[in-house]
Amino acid sequence: SDPDLVARARAAKARLGDRVFVLGHHYQRDEVIEFADVTGDSFKLARDAAARPQAEFIVFCGVHFMAESADILTSDDQRVILPDLAAGCSMADMATAEQVAECWDVLAEAGVADVTVPVAYMNSSADIKAFTGRHGGTICTSSNARRALEWAFGQRPAGGGKVLFLPDQHLGRNTAVREMGYSLEDCVVYNPHKPNGGLSAGQLRAAKMILWRGHCSVHGRFSLESVEDVRARIPGVNVLVHPECRNEVVAAADLVGSTEYIIKALDAAPAGSSWAIGTELNLVRRLAKAHPDKQIVFLDKTVCFCSTMNRIDLPHLVWTLESLADGKVVNRITVDPETERFARRALEQMLALP
Ligand code: 13P
Ligand code: SF4
Repeated sequence: SDPDLVARARAAKARLGDRVFVLGHHYQRDEVIEFADVTGDSFKLARDAAARPQAEFIVFCGVHFMAESADILTSDDQRVILPDLAAGCSMADMATAEQVAECWDVLAEAGVADVTVPVAYMNSSADIKAFTGRHGGTICTSSNARRALEWAFGQRPAGGGKVLFLPDQHLGRNTAVREMGYSLEDCVVYNPHKPNGGLSAGQLRAAKMILWRGHCSVHGRFSLESVEDVRARIPGVNVLVHPECRNEVVAAADLVGSTEYIIKALDAAPAGSSWAIGTELNLVRRLAKAHPDKQIVFLDKTVCFCSTMNRIDLPHLVWTLESLADGKVVNRITVDPETERFARRALEQMLALP
């Protein structure tokens, strides 16, 4: 990266001292990660943001829903900053408040709303988190989805309970089927673009998991063919993928887990072992560099960055830090108090999961 920008970022961060705390998601560019006080998966970063009450500014190098969650979990006088406001998440955008409210009406009409608990993936807007909190549900991340689902199923009458999982159909399906013994037939997909979600009342009554029709376009690129290809190319390779991948990819993999899990698995892997990783490319490249004694490759042949994560780059970080050091608060992310109240309820339920 540009040495001049590196020096400016260092100088601005030094001027701010303890007033600023920089969080970096594992999918961020190396040039940004270099300035992170802490790195983590979405769960760890949500917890770490809440654990820094003395920092006046939380600079969140990640995407919009993460910064919103940090604002919800931090005190009102702490300011959460997203270095580029265009760093959204296409999956989070796949569920709007209006669509989810309509879905709940559809469930009510089918007579199943009162036995359904919403479980919203962290990758959702504050509005969706508030909906979840209002209806007695919880947030989950890829590192606690199973515990969240077990908790949710335990909230409703034995045998009759259902979960509305949103917005990532893959994380919901993978967790229920791969980790909890549900069958693919227990899951139905609610399509917000079709009348009644494209489902009959009978289908909704029979389902255990009602999955929102959302997905991650980055992880959606991995296919069964990518797994078969890499196994043919590298004999003995361990295939390790993120649970946002499609069900057939997860079923064909050796290990599945969140970004933090992926990092720990590679730390524990023996020298000389081979790994094909199905997650965002910045992280895979960083892991390959950090473990020269292991063969670490990207699962697919074509490259696959998360374009919105990549919007946060060194020039944006420098601009952000220099503005803050000059007394100008830029790109603040705020959630309105009413939304925050219910969204916090759902996030705190997640933090309280056993
Ligand atoms: P985790 O960091 O929780 O594994 O999530 C990955 C992701 O896609 C974040 O957008
Ligand atoms: Fe969203 Fe996928 Fe990017 Fe994660 S990797 S921020 S889910 S688009």
